[in-house]
Amino acid sequence: MPDLKTYLHVFDQDTIYNIRKLESAGYINQLIGPIGSGKESYVFLSTDYQKREVAVKIHRHNIGSFKKIPAYLKFRGTKSGGFLKRIDDWTRYEFTFQSRAFNASVNAPEPYRLFKNVIVMQFIGKNGIPARLAIKDTNFELQMWYKKIMDFIIKMGKRGFVHGDLSPYNILNFNGEPYLIDFSQALKLSSFTKEFLFRDIKNINNWFEKLGVKEIKTENEIVKDIDENL
Ligand SMILES: Nc1ncnc2c1ncn2[C@@H]1O[C@H](COP(=O)(O)OP(=O)(O)OP(=O)(O)O)[C@@H](O)[C@H]1O
Ligand SMILES: [Mg+2]
Repeated sequence: MPDLKTYLHVFDQDTIYNIRKLESAGYINQLIGPIGSGKESYVFLSTDYQKREVAVKIHRHNIGSFKKIPAYLKFRGTKSGGFLKRIDDWTRYEFTFQSRAFNASVNAPEPYRLFKNVIVMQFIGKNGIPARLAIKDTNFELQMWYKKIMDFIIKMGKRGFVHGDLSPYNILNFNGEPYLIDFSQALKLSSFTKEFLFRDIKNINNWFEKLGVKEIKTENEIVKDIDENL
């Protein structure tokens, strides 16, 4: 793993300032090490002032192009703004939807703190070792997982939103339990966005079909459980 200074170099001044703010308020200690990184974000392990392990997700400000954002923000009705503000808005949506999921008893990391483009949340893992992605660790009870994940989709749907990027790449296997992560594509459910709900259900169905689950519920059955009128 590259050392942390290498990572701090990739952050712009605003992001470093935001990290320092969270540090001085005790929400994070030093960033300990990277857990994951994508084109748009970095996730680090840290601890807070209580020595509790936390995950810190930082949306990069300095990304060259951003093809994903505008389409989603359009659905979300965000007014146009500068690039940084858009990313901060985007981070806020992620935090909000993740909080809603957590409050609806969906297994998801508890969100602790939002500041601009940074989210501090519950670390899913133990002793600094993050839980593995479900795509890599299928050591779980198939039927139970299928039922639980569908139940999570229904719970979120009933509360009027959809994860939007559900797949075994955004589910962690923690002690045999599924945890949904990465609410960055979540959106309000409506007749305009129900295609995202269908896609989430389809992704999960395809995955469990491949794993050998026989009783798969159709997209329409699930959608009916959420809202007859969608
Ligand atoms: N709360 C957490 N606890 C443990 N590991 C986590 C946590 N959140 C994220 N991770 C790890 O970090 C990786 C990246 O996180 P995440 O999926 O949220 O970001 P991403 O894929 O870069 O998404 P995007 O850039 O689209 O927001 C995950 O695959 C997972 O391994
Ligand atoms: Mg992801």
